[in-house]
Amino acid sequence: MPLPKAELHVHIEGTLEPELAFALASRNGVRLPYAGTEELRRAYDFSDLQSFLDLYYGLTNALHTVDDFAELAEAYLARAAEQGVRHAEIFFDPQAHTARGVSLGTVVEGLARALDHSEERHGISTRLIMCFLRDLPAASALATLEDAKPYLHRISAVGLDSAEAGHPPSDFREVYAAAEALGLRKVAHAGEEGPPAYIREALDVLGVERIDHGLRAMEDPELVARLVRDRVPLTVCPLSNVRLRAVDTLADHPLPAMMEAGLLVTVNSDDPAYFGGYVGDTFDAVRDTLGLGPERLRELARNSFEASFLDDDEERRAR
Ligand code: HPA
Ligand code: ZN
Repeated sequence: MPLPKAELHVHIEGTLEPELAFALASRNGVRLPYAGTEELRRAYDFSDLQSFLDLYYGLTNALHTVDDFAELAEAYLARAAEQGVRHAEIFFDPQAHTARGVSLGTVVEGLARALDHSEERHGISTRLIMCFLRDLPAASALATLEDAKPYLHRISAVGLDSAEAGHPPSDFREVYAAAEALGLRKVAHAGEEGPPAYIREALDVLGVERIDHGLRAMEDPELVARLVRDRVPLTVCPLSNVRLRAVDTLADHPLPAMMEAGLLVTVNSDDPAYFGGYVGDTFDAVRDTLGLGPERLRELARNSFEASFLDDDEERRAR
């Protein structure tokens, strides 16, 4: 039995497996710029975050209907259940879809259809986190928040993702304040490719309660001390960091040092269809390559529930 765990950093669009992408593209009359799944998989040779994002946004073109989003989420939940996931806080990127004429309502309705059956079908409780694309203007994020108002009962939090360098969290001060006023919780990607200063901004300017990635905090001992003191969770994605070249190899990953420093770290898959594994595979990989023993693995699983949006009663039931 895999260790029961929560997954807090997974982009639903990043769970689109090549086979499903081609099936949906064919159903929707969309041509993908690859001859087939083998050629597509060979293209998963990324040099950095941007080269990955180009391919990731390209494949999202296959997704059009409520059924497509429901199928995508259902496929993720089934895989996650096999890997011991009991709770999932799932990112989605509305602007990746609205920009090509697929409405936010279609996306949320489709995802919700799968999520509504998740507890009974897969034993996984869920939350949705709506991410703003930071390489688009803040005005587009504000318009997206406005667009989301009819669906806020489905959405727990806002996040910030896409190309990080040159797109500081402070650009999104206004939209995060508006999201907070609407009762949404707040997280943000920071310190994946961006500097430690972006992690500070996410905390100080946006008021996030969790940092997605946060890897580059390790360059700044004072920031590490603050994150430890305030028990700010970092949702770390080791396989993603290797595939997007934030670290050279998994053996070089700072996860053990982060745990040693007392940081509240969790381990997650990020975009499992692209980075070579779902979250259980990621636990196995850090066990085998970084030599994390059973106590450290249990600590990571415990952290995942502590860092989640679940309240104490929900946490006890999920563990
Ligand atoms: N980083 C930033 N944006 C993303 C990622 C990521 O790893 N995956 C999907 N959007
Ligand atoms: Zn991510």
